[in-house]
Amino acid sequence: MSPPFDVVALIGSLRRESYTRRLVHGLAAIAPNRLGLEIVEIGGLALYNQDEELNPPSAWSGFRERVGRADAVLFATPEYNRSVPGGLKNAVDVGSRPYGKSVWAGKPCAIVTISPGAVGGFGANHHLRQSLVSLDMPTLQQPEMYLGQAQNLIDASGRFANADTEAYCRRFLETFEGWIARHRGQRAD
Ligand code: FNR
Repeated sequence: MSPPFDVVALIGSLRRESYTRRLVHGLAAIAPNRLGLEIVEIGGLALYNQDEELNPPSAWSGFRERVGRADAVLFATPEYNRSVPGGLKNAVDVGSRPYGKSVWAGKPCAIVTISPGAVGGFGANHHLRQSLVSLDMPTLQQPEMYLGQAQNLIDASGRFANADTEAYCRRFLETFEGWIARHRGQRAD
C-alpha cells in the first residue's frame, strides 16, 4: 500500500476555542488511512513585507519549507466580514513568494468553511478560491463544504454531533483523497 498523503491543514482562526480547529480535529479523526492531516500553525507568521525577502524571518522560511514538501493542502476557515481572515490571507501571501518560488503552484487543495451563522462562510470560501486560481492550485469543487450552525456540529473534543454531518465530512475526505491521487499521478486506491 502507498504511504499516506502528507496533507497540511491551515486553520483561518487563531481563537483558542475555535470551531474551525475543532472541525479539523474531527476531520483528522475520520480521515481515510491514506490522508495524513497535520495542522501547520499560521499565527506566528509576521505580516508579509516584501522588503524582508533578502533576509526572511525564520517563521516564513519554516512555513514555506513545510508546505512545499506537502502533497496537498486543506484550508479550513471561518469567514470574517464576508471574506478570508487576515491571518490566513497572510499565510497565503507568505507562501506565494519570492516570485517564481511559490509553494502553492500545482498543489491540490480543498476548502472547508464553517460559521455559527447559516451561510457557512460561503463568502470566505469563494474569496479564497479567487486567490487559489491565481496561485494555480487545483481546488476540489465538489462536495462544497459550507458548514453553518458550527456550535451544533461538533463538540470540544472533535466529535461530530450528528451522523449526517459526519457522513458528509467522510464523503468530502474520500473525494479529496481521490483528488490528491489524481493530481499526484497516482491511483486513488
Ligand atoms: C466574524 N464572524 C462572521 N461570521 C460569518 O458567518 N460571516 C462573517 O462575515 C463574519 N464576520 C466576522 C468578523 C470578525 C472580525 C469576527 C471576529 C467574527 C463570526 C465568526 O463566524 C465566529 O466568530 C466564528 O466562531 C469564528 O470562527 P472560530 O474562531 O470559531 O473558528
